[in-house]
Amino acid sequence: MKLLVTGGAGYVGSHLVWDAVDAGHDVVVLDDLSTGHAEVLPDVELVTANLLDAERMKAQLARLRPDAVLHFAAKSLVGESMRRPDQYFRNNVVGSLNLLDAMRDAGVHRLVFSSSAAVYGQPDASPISETAALAPINPYGHSKKMVEECLSAYADAGWVSSVALRYFNAAGADPQGRTGENHEPETHLIPIALMAAAGSGRTLKLFGTDYPTPDGTCVRDYVHVTDLADAHLRALSWLHEGRGALQLNLGSSKGYSVREVLDLAGEVVGSPLEVEHAERRDGDPAVLVASHALAHEVLGWSPTRDLREILRTAWRWHSR
Ligand code: UFG
Repeated sequence: MKLLVTGGAGYVGSHLVWDAVDAGHDVVVLDDLSTGHAEVLPDVELVTANLLDAERMKAQLARLRPDAVLHFAAKSLVGESMRRPDQYFRNNVVGSLNLLDAMRDAGVHRLVFSSSAAVYGQPDASPISETAALAPINPYGHSKKMVEECLSAYADAGWVSSVALRYFNAAGADPQGRTGENHEPETHLIPIALMAAAGSGRTLKLFGTDYPTPDGTCVRDYVHVTDLADAHLRALSWLHEGRGALQLNLGSSKGYSVREVLDLAGEVVGSPLEVEHAERRDGDPAVLVASHALAHEVLGWSPTRDLREILRTAWRWHSR
């Protein structure tokens, strides 16, 4: 297929690009390079553009006429979204609407959308299934929920069919070392833990040890970024026949506490890390674990790489 990948120079997007090229697809990346890295991409066409430029989006979609679009481009830091909600609603919601309208006008009918566990907010039940209430607690989660609502309406109107993939904690790096996680600033647990264990001088702050969990630290569901990429390729196959707007959780259905992650990170690096206990971080739910039963039923998808493999591949990437 000919694929347009928005945000293809970003963390999850660049893993998809490599795996799509490996699978024989013809890929064009559209990215404004505000946080992405062109140098991690294979030899594919790169259009440097921002989704807020509606006229440019229309022109690019009309020129390229891809068989499908994979839409990763978004701002994705929860804390930043609390400070700058304007940027999150404009970029993530208005940007997505510009893309959807450009697709409709160019007759492009298939979209895979990067959604997030953040649409659930602080759920009471665990594991979380797709029928759980959507109750985001920050502008980032709201922006993803609003785009999912747009996608349902555009599918009902017969314009664009879509699969929204709700990622839990994306982590790890390409097993072949071609791309990996590279955020600036880095706020995610695994890269910070690896750097701390490697003696970068950065002490890891453990946010909260008094949660109602077995060891008092937050429990999360870590899913390897290459498994996420695989789910996107399967979603494209579903869209070949499938019509409508589907939402699927992508997680492993297994939770690890922050302490468990830190212990294993120390083991993988070969030296324990220094940890400083800190206050809870605003907006962190105690437990976020997916049920991925629906993704398994509809796409035949299950993650194949465990937390140790996530840490090993991430460590190989960071140590280079
Ligand atoms: N943590 C620390 N110290 C750190 C960084 C993180 O203790 O320096 C803890 C957090 O408090 C949390 C866990 O490690 O309990 C994981 O934190 P991350 O920042 O790695 O990931 P989040 O669970 O906060 O965020 C993920 C996705 C977001 C998504 C969110 C949904 O990265 O995109 O889940 O709640 F919005």
